[in-house]
Amino acid sequence: MSFHHRHLLGIEQLAPHDITTILDLAEDYVTLNRQTAKHSDVLTGLTQINMFFENSTRTQASFEIAGKRLGADVMNMAMQASSIKKGETLIDTALTLNAMHPDLLVVRHPHSGAVDLLAQKVNCAVLNAGDGRHEHPTQALLDALTIRRAKGRLHRLNIAICGDIAHSRVARSNILLLGKMENRIRLIGPPTLMPAQIDQFGVEVYDDMEQGLADVDVVMMLRLQRERMDGGFIPSEREYYHRYGLDEDKLALAKPDAIIMHPGPMNRGVEIDGTLADDINRSVIQDQVEMGVAVRMATMELLARNLLASRTDTA
Ligand code: NCD
Repeated sequence: MSFHHRHLLGIEQLAPHDITTILDLAEDYVTLNRQTAKHSDVLTGLTQINMFFENSTRTQASFEIAGKRLGADVMNMAMQASSIKKGETLIDTALTLNAMHPDLLVVRHPHSGAVDLLAQKVNCAVLNAGDGRHEHPTQALLDALTIRRAKGRLHRLNIAICGDIAHSRVARSNILLLGKMENRIRLIGPPTLMPAQIDQFGVEVYDDMEQGLADVDVVMMLRLQRERMDGGFIPSEREYYHRYGLDEDKLALAKPDAIIMHPGPMNRGVEIDGTLADDINRSVIQDQVEMGVAVRMATMELLARNLLASRTDTA
């Protein structure tokens, strides 16, 4: 297996063969996770610390389950209650934790770039679980595995990413990954929710769902990330749903076998019709959650192997 990275900070640093290596290994974990006995021992003896400076339901649970299934000692730091509230900087907290000899540090932080900075200060492998509006690499990897399994390939697909692109790290990491794998990407949303200079990403931009969804293989919906908005980006939720919410009529323009994706948390009736989200013939939203655990197990295994190899080199 050729995977030479010390950290997983973003999709930006990965080559197409790194992505394939992670997804192939994750397939083994999908199989393991469907068995009654789900344990492996590849992380036995290693310590994994999850530091979530932002709320998270599925990502934190997924990393915790992944670490435990691989045999690591997993600790979830309650960052709300930590010394950060007493004025300690992110770096001081990281150095304190580093002195306890963790092996894997999983970090989510509201500021873009915070996880990269932290990775420069510690001796362990760092996994970015989402930094501001910058990157969320494991989400893009789990989305890629979900697409590859549903469509039988991960190249030359027409993929629409719809909604609040400007504030979404999920969109950014997906644009990078799906672009590296040579797919055609369309971004659909109101101009107020498109990032500046989006054209440099090699994507097509639409502000009209009817046009943008024509003949796509994959429809990826995103939440309006209100916590990152400072002002009125949309007229009203009703109006937004009318123009950009995914419903049967809009989906009918995509390919007949197009799949529906959403990273969660989902706002039913705002960006997506609830019945459509639950339609097991179209929606792969629960598959995404399942693939999330497998992809995180695979990445942690690959990073841990490199970490252990680097320690024997320097011992
Ligand atoms: C996403 C996130 O936190 O960036 N959620 C997730 O990790 N599944 C998307 C979101 O919050 O809307």
